[in-house]
Amino acid sequence: MLAMNYRGPYRVRASQKPEPKIEHPEDVVVRVTRACICGSDLHIYHGLVPDTRVGTTFGHEFIGEVVEVGSDVKTMKIGDQILVPFNISCGRCAFCKQELFSNCHESNPEATAAGGIFGYSHTCGGFDGGQAEYVRVPYADVGPMVIPSDIHPDDAVLLTDVFPTGYQAAEMGGIKPGDTVVVFGAGPVGLMAARSAWFFGAGRVIIIDRIEYRLEFAKTFAHCEAYNFESIGDPVLFLKKQTGYFGADVCIDAVGCEAAGSALQTITGKKLMLQAGSATALHWAINSVKKGGIVSIVGVYGPTDNLIPIGNVVNKGLTIRADQCSVKRLLPKLISHIREGYIQPRDIITHHIPLEEVSDAYHIFSAKLDNCIKTVLIPPSARN
Ligand SMILES: NC(=O)c1ccc[n+]([C@@H]2O[C@H](COP(=O)([O-])OP(=O)(O)OC[C@H]3O[C@@H](n4cnc5c(N)ncnc54)[C@H](O)[C@@H]3O)[C@@H](O)[C@H]2O)c1
Ligand SMILES: [Zn+2]
Ligand SMILES: [Zn+2]
Repeated sequence: MLAMNYRGPYRVRASQKPEPKIEHPEDVVVRVTRACICGSDLHIYHGLVPDTRVGTTFGHEFIGEVVEVGSDVKTMKIGDQILVPFNISCGRCAFCKQELFSNCHESNPEATAAGGIFGYSHTCGGFDGGQAEYVRVPYADVGPMVIPSDIHPDDAVLLTDVFPTGYQAAEMGGIKPGDTVVVFGAGPVGLMAARSAWFFGAGRVIIIDRIEYRLEFAKTFAHCEAYNFESIGDPVLFLKKQTGYFGADVCIDAVGCEAAGSALQTITGKKLMLQAGSATALHWAINSVKKGGIVSIVGVYGPTDNLIPIGNVVNKGLTIRADQCSVKRLLPKLISHIREGYIQPRDIITHHIPLEEVSDAYHIFSAKLDNCIKTVLIPPSARN
């Protein structure tokens, strides 16, 4: 089959590899019809995630058709069109039982911090991902669901990660009616977080980035104020001024470990790798939220340490909430939001690109070319 193939930092290509097979009675094999590229994929594409092995296939946001079913699978049959949350969850461990599906204790038994994730290095379990014609999906009765017939496939594929992740970012912010919410990052996740903040009753939503076309898009898609951090001076001071020197009620970090904006963070976090990526957006979030406020982190950081202003967290009495999204928990609510017309997630998709051109697709998304916000890869077998 054709699959995305990681060759080393900044080098991916589409090439042939063996089709996956059922390895466990609870598996299904899926013929992929759509697979997105995520901001999280950029961290592995840039070589920042430990134990990303040459030859692996990325892709944790995908939908497709069930083509093989393990003998213990009860809820899926051949021909079903399914969406597959990016987390791999056993459904039985203490964490899955609390609906902490991203924190499953069984799907990545080599690690205590991270659960299994499709196509996200051996640090996250070594599972091949869905940027391919076929993919093996473990625990098929737990995470995946059959796509309701009234849900557009481009909306369905965004339900595997970015819409739920943005929504959970807003949810973890504990937003109260009238709150001022600042979202750092106007990528797909930040856009969804800003849009979702209104669902919780925010009174004012501000998004911060440095990419003008994304800021412009945010104004219409998320109905928020949008500022370029390269033209507002010190972003923390700017936000304090915007909030009567009080600080925002809630700050959301939707940037993660590759943040720009601080030479010190960039050199220590990205060039010298003395910390697990640059934590600039998280700094700004901690320093621009009000005393007693909440910082919600969905931007991804590595498993080792980062330089963050913990003293300010203590002295301001902040609450920090963070996680990988538990996609499965949110699906019923978010599907009903789509049905009721509150949101059409696919509005953020700017590119549909054949899987054969995966190398160009990564370059365009990574370098933020061609006004790219969200890219969907279409495998050849899904185009016939
Ligand atoms: N927790 C989860 O479950 C989860 C799920 C999906 C993605 N993520 C993470 O969310 C983050 C965003 O994902 P994405 O797909 O939107 O990525 P993206 O790369 O498309 O967007 C990130 C945006 O942040 C902007 N940015 C850089 N430095 C900034 C700064 N200092 N302040 C404000 N903005 C800044 C960039 O210009 C870019 O537009 C990534 O770290 C990704 O790994 C987490
Ligand atoms: Zn993702
Ligand atoms: Zn589990």
